[in-house]
Amino acid sequence: MTTYENILTRVEGRAGVAQLNRPRALNALNRELMTELMTALEAFDADPAVGCMVVAGNDRAFAAGADIKAMAAATPAQMMTGSFIDLWDRLHHISKPVIAAVSGFALGGGCELAMACDMIIASETAQFGQPEINLGVIPGAGGTQRLTLAVGKALAMEMVLNGRTLSAEEALRAGLINRVYPVEVYLEEAIRLANAIAARAPVAVRLAKEAVNASFEMSLRAGLDHERRLFYLLFSTDDQKEGMDAFINKRPAHWRGQ
Ligand code: CAA
Repeated sequence: MTTYENILTRVEGRAGVAQLNRPRALNALNRELMTELMTALEAFDADPAVGCMVVAGNDRAFAAGADIKAMAAATPAQMMTGSFIDLWDRLHHISKPVIAAVSGFALGGGCELAMACDMIIASETAQFGQPEINLGVIPGAGGTQRLTLAVGKALAMEMVLNGRTLSAEEALRAGLINRVYPVEVYLEEAIRLANAIAARAPVAVRLAKEAVNASFEMSLRAGLDHERRLFYLLFSTDDQKEGMDAFINKRPAHWRGQ
């Protein structure tokens, strides 16, 4: 079992949970933490006992951004060769769904990390923002792209140009997040959702995630063709035969993951 210094990991039911654990720095995302997080998520992805993952911080902070102290003196070359942000791309290759459970600050890279996950469950105290403009820079890990796709140009411009933060309720109304719960239960609810998804047909879940994410990368025509190929492909699985037989015979389906 790998031991980590900047995150805590556990499996609850079939949900792999990774919790950022630099509380004194409000979970600022330095290279070490992000490397550990990516390694942990890849390990969950390879573990058949895990069907879905949750990335969380603590109640006060999901993450207050990339680690400003670690990058303040950096040169462009050091940022590039240190893979400061490139290593975040590993998240893109995780095939099982990843849910962000956000409470408190989700700022800068923290907001970007949450948006790079497949769904966001928030506590009532969550705050989402891209305050990089206050540091003389712009978001560098998806904040100008994923945020705009999620909330539209008007709100994204306000957040990125003027550092406006969104409360959990505002983020819900803007379509940035899935659900809001009291702080006492948001993590439990995120894990419950992860376990509900993990109980579904695993190959279909994987391809469903792939198909929805493809809509961000492809034209509508190419996306529809891609979706149709994945749909046809699922007819090669035992789980498709099982799911449809279970429906016809009015019984629960038993998924085999193949
Ligand atoms: N990087 C490094 N350290 C951070 C940090 C960050 N992003 N955010 C907070 N911390 C540290 C503080 O320096 C402080 O440490 P010390 O006690 O050693 O000084 C500790 O966490 C607690 O923070 P505060 O005392 O500031 O707590 P607060 O409650 O007064 O304020 C806050 C909370 C409003 C979130 C404030 O900490 C803040 O504004 N943080 C920075 C937010 C930010 O600008 N994020 C964007 C970072 S750049 C980025 O993310 C680029 C990208 O796109 C990838």
